[in-house]
Amino acid sequence: MALLHTRRLLAAPRFFTAAANRASSWWSHVEMGPPDPILGVTEAYKRDSNPKKMNLGVGAYRDDNGKPYVLSCVRKAEAMIASKKMDKEYLPIGGLADFTRASAELALGENSEAFKSGRYVTVQGISGTGSLRIGANFLHRFSRTGRDVYLPKPSWGNHTPIFRDAGLQLQSYRYYDPNTCSLDFSGAMDDIARIPEKSIILLHACAHNPTGVDPRQEQWKELAATVKKRKLLVYFDMAYQGFASGDINRDAWAVRHFIEQGINVLLSQSYAKNMGLYGERAGAFTVICSDAEEAKRVESQLKILIRPMYSNPPLNGARIAAAILNTPELRQEWLVEVKGMADRIIGMRTQLVANLKKEGSSHNWQHITDQIGMFCFTGLKPDQVDRLTKEFSIYMTKDGRISVAGVTSGNVGYLAHAIHQVTK
Ligand code: LMR
Repeated sequence: MALLHTRRLLAAPRFFTAAANRASSWWSHVEMGPPDPILGVTEAYKRDSNPKKMNLGVGAYRDDNGKPYVLSCVRKAEAMIASKKMDKEYLPIGGLADFTRASAELALGENSEAFKSGRYVTVQGISGTGSLRIGANFLHRFSRTGRDVYLPKPSWGNHTPIFRDAGLQLQSYRYYDPNTCSLDFSGAMDDIARIPEKSIILLHACAHNPTGVDPRQEQWKELAATVKKRKLLVYFDMAYQGFASGDINRDAWAVRHFIEQGINVLLSQSYAKNMGLYGERAGAFTVICSDAEEAKRVESQLKILIRPMYSNPPLNGARIAAAILNTPELRQEWLVEVKGMADRIIGMRTQLVANLKKEGSSHNWQHITDQIGMFCFTGLKPDQVDRLTKEFSIYMTKDGRISVAGVTSGNVGYLAHAIHQVTK
C-alpha cells in the first residue's frame, strides 16, 4: 500500500506532489514571515538594477564613493595579529579579557570609580544585538521587580524582538515629537515620572536610533534625577560611541553621569559602527554592581547564561578591537578615523539641506542638520518613502529614517531632487 502511494505521488503532477509534501511535512503550519524591517531593505536594494539606486536603509558607513570602509587602524591591527601567528583556541565563556577590560574603560572612562574599584563585570557579546540579548536574558532570570521594559517611542526596530523573545514585556515612553522633529523632553519626563518604581528603562546613550535626537547634557541631568527618584533600573544601549560628536568621551557622557549619580546601570556596546567591525560581531555587556564581590556573583551567572546559548564568543573581532584599544598608536589613529566618519556625515547633512533649498523646497529641513549620528528621521511619510523607492530606487526604512552614512557628494543632489519631488 505504501509502495502504491509513493508510485502514485511520483507520477502525479508537480503541484499535487508539493501539496502532498506540505500536508505530510512537520512544518506545514509554518507561515511565511515578513522581511526584516531594516535588513530586508538591503535585500530589496540588491534586487534593483537601476544604476542610480541608493541604500539608505541599514546603518552601515560608506566612504564618499559609496564603498564600505575598512578603517586603516583595523587593517594595521589585523596585520599585527597575523604576524603573531596566534592560536585559535576557545575564548573563555566571558570573552577575551584584554577586550572586555578595554571596553569597560572605553565606556566608563579610565578615572571612573566603578572601573577602578572593579565593581563591574563586562562580558564579550556578539556585537550590539548579542550583548543586548545577554542583558535581556539576565534581566528575565534575575530581575526581582517585574518584566516590564520601557523603550523610547520610537526605538531601534530590533529592541522589541530582543526583549520580547527573552520573555520581557515591552512598554514605552514618549521621546520624539513628530511636529518639531526633535526631542519631546517634557513628554518623556512626564511619562518617565509615571513609570512604576523599579521597572526597567532603556536609554540610547548617544546618537539615538532611529531619530538622531539626543537629550542635551542639562536634560540628561534631569533625566538621571527622575530615574533615580523612581528607582528605575537603567539599561543603556551604546552602539554609536564616537559617532555622534566624533569624540568618544563626549558621547559616553550620559552613561558616566548616571554612574556618578550612583545609578548602577546595565550597558551594551557595539564596535560595528565606530570601528566598522560590522561582520566581526564584536560587542560587550556590562553590569555595574554595588561592589566587586557582587560583580563576581553576577559574572558567574552571566557565564551560566552564555554557555548554553553559544558557548563562548568569536575571537577575531575582539582581538582586532583589543589591539586598537590597547596599542597607543592604533588607538590614536582610531580616534582620528572615528571623527573623520562623524564629520563626513555632518557634512552630508549640510549638503542635503543646501541641495533641497537649491531644488526649491519650501519645507523647513533644519532637523536634518540638528539631528546627530548615523541617522536622520526625515519626517517623510510611508507613501512618500514608497514613491522614493518605486520612482527613484532610493531605499530606506518605512518610518522615514535615512542612514546619512549612505549619502555621498556624488548622490546627495539626486537624493535632494527625489525628496523634493515627493514632498512638494
Ligand atoms: C540599523 O539600525 O540599521 C543598524 O543598527 C543595523 C541593524 O542591525 O539594524
